[in-house]
Amino acid sequence: MSRPRVFITRRIPQVGLDLIGAVCDVDLWDEPLPPGRDELLKRIAGCDGVLTMLSEKVDDEFFDAAGEQLKVVSQYAVGFNNIDVEAAKSRNIAVGNTPGALTAATADLGFALLIAAARRLVEAHEYIHADKWKTWEPLGHIGWDLEGKTVGIVGMGRIGQAFAQRCYGGWGMNVIYTSRSPKPDAETQLRAKRVSFDELLEQSDFISVHTDLNEETAGMFNKAAFEKMKSNAIFINTARGGIHNQADLVEALKNNVIGAAGLDVTDPEPPALDDPILHLPNCVVAPHIGSATISTRNAMAEIASDNLLNGIKGEPLRCSVT
Ligand code: DGY
Repeated sequence: MSRPRVFITRRIPQVGLDLIGAVCDVDLWDEPLPPGRDELLKRIAGCDGVLTMLSEKVDDEFFDAAGEQLKVVSQYAVGFNNIDVEAAKSRNIAVGNTPGALTAATADLGFALLIAAARRLVEAHEYIHADKWKTWEPLGHIGWDLEGKTVGIVGMGRIGQAFAQRCYGGWGMNVIYTSRSPKPDAETQLRAKRVSFDELLEQSDFISVHTDLNEETAGMFNKAAFEKMKSNAIFINTARGGIHNQADLVEALKNNVIGAAGLDVTDPEPPALDDPILHLPNCVVAPHIGSATISTRNAMAEIASDNLLNGIKGEPLRCSVT
């Protein structure tokens, strides 16, 4: 019997390649940049499964190009805003993702960005490299304290709760949140309080975004939202760049409407080198590395491979979004 055919759109950790390679004929796109659209559509033709990254747009055109034998799209990420899930459902194509595996790593990175922004670490690092460090400065590089502040979490899912837990347990912060539904566990364990979006904007010293990018959340952090925030508030986004309006964020940071920002995600990604978001002293930017630890990426590779193999066999996925 012939082996199932799969296309993997980028190299993933070996543990995943080994699992898939043991049962499938694998076409691996082994380049530093994702395949272009035409190349992608050509390579997926005739595949039983495709393992995708957030860089691939998975839509009707993708499914038409793959053909009727396509059974599963396995996303190597927890977010899947690049995938038209309804189109997949209507064709009986399973879609999987990798939740859980990256919760702690992403929450840690969010916290790293918060400390970096609050203590002006990148600015201070650049100061040394610009040969400006001449002496200890009694009034230099003064930042924000974290202890006892109020943190507002937008999206109290797994990652939001893990971030809140670091704030509450480690730094004694007061936690408020917005979420589609109440989170009784977080309310008991972290004394978190569910508030309206406006209350969260007005009361938080730090705001951290952990929600999906969808029609409701796209651009929710815009000029009006930044104007409701405290003038020394710090904005953290480790979710998706499209959730903030980047031009409005740049203006808010430039004009001290808010204090600082820490971003692991931008819009677009990557930003052009001359994008103003990269040239603000009060904005720390990382290149979408929330899940980038060895054990996290290995765990993601295992889940994504299991999803792919289960989908090809027509079995329920370990983590399904359909
Ligand atoms: C995710 O998993 O959605 C991240 O943003 C990419 O690792």
